[in-house]
Amino acid sequence: MLIWCGLPLIMWIGGQSLITGALDSVSYALVCMLPLFLAKFAGVMFVDFTSYKHMSISKQKITQIIDEKEETGSLEPFVPNSFDIAFDKVSFAYVPGEPVLESISFTAKEKQLTAVVGDSGAGKSTVLNLIAK
Ligand SMILES: Nc1ncnc2c1ncn2[C@@H]1O[C@H](COP(=O)(O)OP(=O)(O)O)[C@@H](O)[C@H]1O
Ligand SMILES: [Mg+2]
Repeated sequence: MLIWCGLPLIMWIGGQSLITGALDSVSYALVCMLPLFLAKFAGVMFVDFTSYKHMSISKQKITQIIDEKEETGSLEPFVPNSFDIAFDKVSFAYVPGEPVLESISFTAKEKQLTAVVGDSGAGKSTVLNLIAK
């Protein structure tokens, strides 16, 4: 802000020097551009300062996480149940009277890869949501 307020002053003083012949026109132009360079420099410094601040905060957080003690629980590790999944003529509707699944039957064998394939809106997510419930 100070720089911008100083611009008219610099232009005026430079203008006087131009009139008295102490400055040629090129030097006068350069003198007038000086506040612009200073403003740019100040802007760059400010941006660098703020990114430095952000980086040091991130560094603090990362250091905190690294220094955190490892949790040593006495609980047994979680072992999910393992079983076949079978759908036997399953029908489902979100809205009564508008079925999404109609009499679906399939078996997904334990420890085997099973793919649920279908067009968008066919009901794949619905099938998986029903399994999860
Ligand atoms: N929460 C919901 N309420 C009503 N209709 C739904 C809902 N979720 C999905 N549907 C409808 O059920 C049909 C099957 O959706 P979805 O199971 O998401 O299909 P897919 O996963 O195969 O794309 C679609 O017509 C969809 O608009
Ligand atoms: Mg889906």
